[in-house]
Amino acid sequence: MENCKVIAITNQKGGVGKTTTTVNLGVGLANTGNKVVLIDADPQGSLTVSLGVKNPDELDVSLSSLMQSVIEDEQPPGNAIIAHNEGVDLLPSNIELSGMETGLFNVMSREYVLKSCIEGLKKYYDYILIDCMPSLGMIDTGRGSFRRSEAGLWLPALPDPR
Ligand SMILES: Nc1ncnc2c1ncn2[C@@H]1O[C@H](COP(=O)(O)OP(=O)(O)O)[C@@H](O)[C@H]1O
Ligand SMILES: [Mg+2]
Repeated sequence: MENCKVIAITNQKGGVGKTTTTVNLGVGLANTGNKVVLIDADPQGSLTVSLGVKNPDELDVSLSSLMQSVIEDEQPPGNAIIAHNEGVDLLPSNIELSGMETGLFNVMSREYVLKSCIEGLKKYYDYILIDCMPSLGMIDTGRGSFRRSEAGLWLPALPDPR
């Protein structure tokens, strides 16, 4: 869509509500008439599981396959997106993203790989929400992507009582 907004829900810390925020914000935006895709950018796949995929590691196609197609300059897989009956779409993730992240360090223009995936989705959606992993690795390479995609950053933060 012309005015597609990209929002990365990010925090270096785990357990602060990134995944919960992504789902609730996404479903809320969908319920008010927006086309929304949620991107699971955490290899733990919590967002993917919370949207009903029982075994993310058994998925043939995920965010890492899409990123791989960008790296290899190939046609993106056409079946990466899963429609959810809450009205949001999901680009799922699994443990393969972990290997992808490590491999990215050898890739030229690595900060453009995620951006390229995001750009490919912009024409279909009003909102693209990205549930980030709790580390700076991917976010670091992604930070360039997010900035280049004119993404907003949403930082959920809860004080850890421990
Ligand atoms: N606003 C909230 N109030 C209370 N508990 C929350 C809130 N948001 C998330 N939680 C709970 O906190 C835990 C961690 O949330 P999660 O979204 O998985 O965090 P993250 O993705 O940052 O690791 C979950 O058990 C979730 O149910
Ligand atoms: Mg999470």
